[in-house]
Amino acid sequence: MAIQDELQETIEQLVQKGKGILAADESNPTIAKRFDAIGVESTEEQRRRYRSLILETPGLGDYISGIILFEETLEQRTDEGTLLPELASLQGVVAGIKVDKGKGPLANAPGDEITQGLDGLEQRLAGYKAQGARFAKWRNVYHISSHTPSPLAVEANAEVLARYAAICQSQGIVPIVEPEVLMDGEHDIQRCAEVSEVVLHALFHALHRHRVVLEHALLKPSMVTPGNRHPHQARPEEVARETVRILRRTVPAALPSINFLSGGQSPEQATANLNAMNALAPQPWELSFSYGRALQQPALLAWKGDPDNVAAAQAALYRRAGLNGAARRGEYQT
Ligand code: 13P
Repeated sequence: MAIQDELQETIEQLVQKGKGILAADESNPTIAKRFDAIGVESTEEQRRRYRSLILETPGLGDYISGIILFEETLEQRTDEGTLLPELASLQGVVAGIKVDKGKGPLANAPGDEITQGLDGLEQRLAGYKAQGARFAKWRNVYHISSHTPSPLAVEANAEVLARYAAICQSQGIVPIVEPEVLMDGEHDIQRCAEVSEVVLHALFHALHRHRVVLEHALLKPSMVTPGNRHPHQARPEEVARETVRILRRTVPAALPSINFLSGGQSPEQATANLNAMNALAPQPWELSFSYGRALQQPALLAWKGDPDNVAAAQAALYRRAGLNGAARRGEYQT
């Protein structure tokens, strides 16, 4: 199949009314933190059991169109021997893969970070594709403080995300570009709005420079919120208004869908905020989710590593996915 047709087909599978993406691509240190919170040791076997549980959830594809996996998961199998990416496909869910190699300090920009992983990306993508992945994710982070993100960090991070996206498209893999403005800090919502606007403006300029086809890419941004140590948290209507205002200024209408990360919001907050956005007037793009914690937290708490709790954990995940499906249509009731 021609590359453009392949990309278009994946986009159509990922962008569906009432559905969103499940981020289950925690790196080993990150999943260890999540497991630690429920008293489970992060061994390869426990990770296999947990991710099998997620993918075996009855009806997963009712509300989930795509799942982002970590490298290790591509090779793992269920107890019955089905490869996990194959199981995704049997559930009607497109498999994707996190391809960045994590972040580290950006030289000469104190407090800022840059994401690694471009070297050899083209070859790695060919391997992931052979294992069943049809889309990819790369996350960059931006810290809000009095002096960050610096103009250098904004430019360098935009460039890296655009290079990643261009390489993905050349391999027939749909790129999700994830510029996460972290919620840590005391800043107010206006400061988050200003930073988000600068970050997204630079990102879309870089995507244009690198000739990324916006029709075949997805954006995974953070919502515009006050910092988590700000004394007043914002209501969903305010988060929705500020977020959509910044997105309308910076994101071209050619991009099919914006799939938010949850970034440390509670499951209920993340769903309520998405719902409030979809309750506004129709926007040029779909407004959906690509949540990690906000979808998985209730399932992890129900599971606690006990095989007897698998069905309860799956029910918790299915319920949360359904509520976010409702928020996609602006029909979520708290
Ligand atoms: P959260 O929704 O937990 O922020 O995770 C999304 C993600 O994929 C972060 O890279």
